Parts: sequence; structure tokens; C-alpha cells
Amino acid sequence: MASRGQFSSKLGFVMAAAGSAVGLGNIWGFPTQAAGNGGAAFVLMYLVMAFCLAYPALMAELVIGRYARANVVNALGAVSEKPIVHKLGMLAGGYGVLVASLILSFYAIVAGWMLSYMLGALADMGSLSAAKAWFTKGSLVRDLAFTATFMGLTVFVIAGGVEKGIERWSTRLMPMLIGLLVCLIIYVMTQPGAMEGLGVYLIPDFSKIFDAGLIIDAMGQAFFSLSLGVGTMLIYGSYLSHKESLPKLSGMVMAVDLSIAFLAGLLIIPAIFVAKHYGAEIYSESGTLIGGPDLIFQILPYLFDSMGGIGVVVAFAFFLLMSIAALTSSISMLEVPVALVVENGHMNRPKAALLLGFIILAISAAIVLNFELLFLNVIAFTTKFSQPLLGVVMCVFVGWLWHRGKLLQEIQQGHEHIENTLFWKIWPHYVKFVCPALILATFAQSL
Ligand code: PHE
Repeated sequence: MASRGQFSSKLGFVMAAAGSAVGLGNIWGFPTQAAGNGGAAFVLMYLVMAFCLAYPALMAELVIGRYARANVVNALGAVSEKPIVHKLGMLAGGYGVLVASLILSFYAIVAGWMLSYMLGALADMGSLSAAKAWFTKGSLVRDLAFTATFMGLTVFVIAGGVEKGIERWSTRLMPMLIGLLVCLIIYVMTQPGAMEGLGVYLIPDFSKIFDAGLIIDAMGQAFFSLSLGVGTMLIYGSYLSHKESLPKLSGMVMAVDLSIAFLAGLLIIPAIFVAKHYGAEIYSESGTLIGGPDLIFQILPYLFDSMGGIGVVVAFAFFLLMSIAALTSSISMLEVPVALVVENGHMNRPKAALLLGFIILAISAAIVLNFELLFLNVIAFTTKFSQPLLGVVMCVFVGWLWHRGKLLQEIQQGHEHIENTLFWKIWPHYVKFVCPALILATFAQSL
């Protein structure tokens, strides 16, 4: 078997892992959930969930991955030598691979829409109105074509490997993403109506903060946003050098993820209110802000059209931003099954990437063709149900089934004397008792 890839530097890892974390979940999901859930009250609860649940779970995944230096199936299997635990680990890993692939299957459809709207803006610049209409009007052919295009880009990056594919593209794309985001925020903030949106985002409505719905949404959002449960962070951890400190690097990844979610709120919510200023209807019949696809594909395009000449440039920048965010996340999803097939099936990486890309594309096509029936159900099954559940499994493996001494040994690498830190005094108990209990409790409520 070819030797395993490894990230070449700390920065490379942080960019890749933050690239996985920062995706449509941050730029679209987070702001609209915040707007619909009491603004800053949701932001606060999200921060609590991120620090109390997601950060410890992220650490758990990274530590298993780096210890086992293997794909999620073998890694969970390696936690214990007891045959039954070994088998259960492999089974849970297999479930993770399935869920990661299913997430990619719907994510690629949504990302395909972003690509087609981006080309729609380009067509608009060239005054090609028929082309623009085709790119921005849903059709089976368009959806299939752009899902396939996006999957092609994902396969291309993953075929390049850890350093020359994942790391190289993440370090190129993430700074672009941040630059675009900041430029768009500055522009939108100068537009009429933006301040009203800023108020909706930043003035907390505390009457909602202990609402069960808000807490569950915040937890789900934190797990999705940090790409947890399905082995993406685990596999990235498996490419990380033993010289690096896991608690520090995961703190950095969290910080980037949270900051970009927060910044995205400064873009999206004010933009909605600028659109309102221009006459868009921004509330649904039930009185809540429109947040789903209608926001991205109707309200925002309405806004871009109202902005005059610069509107097409803003539209292009916005959909480019969304496409980049989606790509740095989708590669981490595809890496999960690809690593399994490369390591256990002894297939070479480009072949494995292509093969799995095709299989997942076929699932996407089935979803596109049965959209009403499948789309939202696949999202609910993977993100609302499976991700938190697998999060619990990871915590149980680290907290209950892994030998404490081995765990310490692994974490000590890259972080000497960690046994004397507050982190080590709290975290092991935390992943053992608090995380699973809190996740399960929140979960039980949502059922
Ligand atoms: N974190 C990504 C986002 O916010 C989604 C994702 C989920 C990525 C699961 C990988 C695995 O969009």
C-alpha cells in the first residue's frame, strides 16, 4: 500500500479542517437560524453548544484519528482489542462512511445551484438574458448538470491527495473566501436598510433562549457546522503530525468556524433587510423571516437585480463565495469513503475518488429525480438524526472504551505535560459523561 499522506504544516491542517467546517452551514444555515430564533439569543446558545458539546467532540474525533492513522472504520475498530468492541467500532465507522456519503449527495445538489447562479451572474454581465434565465431557473437538466460539475471538482481535488489536493486547495480557497466575505459585508452595510437587519441580528430576544426548539437547532447547527460525527474530522486528524498539539489546533479550527459563521450573519441578515427596503417580501405567511432556498434564490437575487449595474458583480461574488465554501467542505466528505477504499480496498486514490464520485453522483441523481420525496428526508436522516448519534458513539469510544493511559499518551504528543492542565482535568470526564448525556437529552426532546 502507498504510504499515507500527511498535512505539511500546522497552517495546512487548520485551513483544511476549517475549510471542512466552514460551508453552506455557516454562510446560509447559521444566519437564517439566528434570524428565526431570536437573533443574538441564538448566537449565544450556539456559542454555548459549540464550546460545551462540539469542541469536546471535535477533540475526540481528532485524537482517535491521529492515534489510529487510518480511515474511520479501521480507526474506531482500533480503539479496543476486545473482539466485540472491535466489531462494533468497525460497524459504527461504516455507518459514518454511509452518512458522510449521503451528506455529500445532497450537498452537491445545493452546491450545484450555487455554481449555476454564479454562471447566471456571468451571463448577465454579458447581457445574455436567455442563458441567464436557463442558469437561474430550476430544471432537471440544469440540476443534474451542475451537481455533476460540482462532484467533478470535488473528485479532482481528492484525487490529488492530502497535500497536493486537500491542503493545497484549502490554503488557496480559504483566504479567498474570507476576502470575498469581508468585501461583501462592507458593501452591504453601506446600503439602505442594512442597519435594521443588523439590529435584528445583534439585539437578543432573550424570551427565546430557553426554548427547546432553539436549543436543539443550536446543537444540530454546531454539529453540522463542525463536520462532526461522520469521520471527516477523524480522517483529517489521521493526516496530522504527532508534533502538533491537538487541543490548540482544534481551538483554532473552532475559532475560524465561529468567526466565519458570525461574519456571515453580518452579511446575510442585513442583506435581507436591504432587499426589504427595495420592496422584497421577507416574511413568510407565519410571520417568520424567509430562510430556506427562497432566501438564497429569490430574495437575494431580487436584491442583486435592484442594485443597478453593480448588482451582477455582487451576485457573482456572492455565489462564488458560496461555491468555494461548499467545495472546501465537500472534499472532506468525499475523503471519508475514499480513504476507506484506498486503505482497505487497495485501490489507487484517483481511481477510488472517481469511482466513489460516480456512486455518490448516482445517489444525487436519484434525489434530484425524486426531489419531493427524498431531499428533505435525506437531510433530516443524516444531519438531525445520524450526526448527533454518531457524535455520541465517538464520545463513548473515547470516554468508555479506550484505555485511559493510551489516550493520555496520544494527547501528550505535541502537548507535553498536558496531564497538568485544566484541559486534561476536565475533558476526559466531559466526553465520558457530559457530552453523551447532553446530546442524548437534547436528542430525546427533538423526537
Ligand atoms: N461543516 C459543513 C458546513 O457547515 C458541512 C459538513 C458536514 C462537512 C459534515 C463535512 C461533514 O457546511
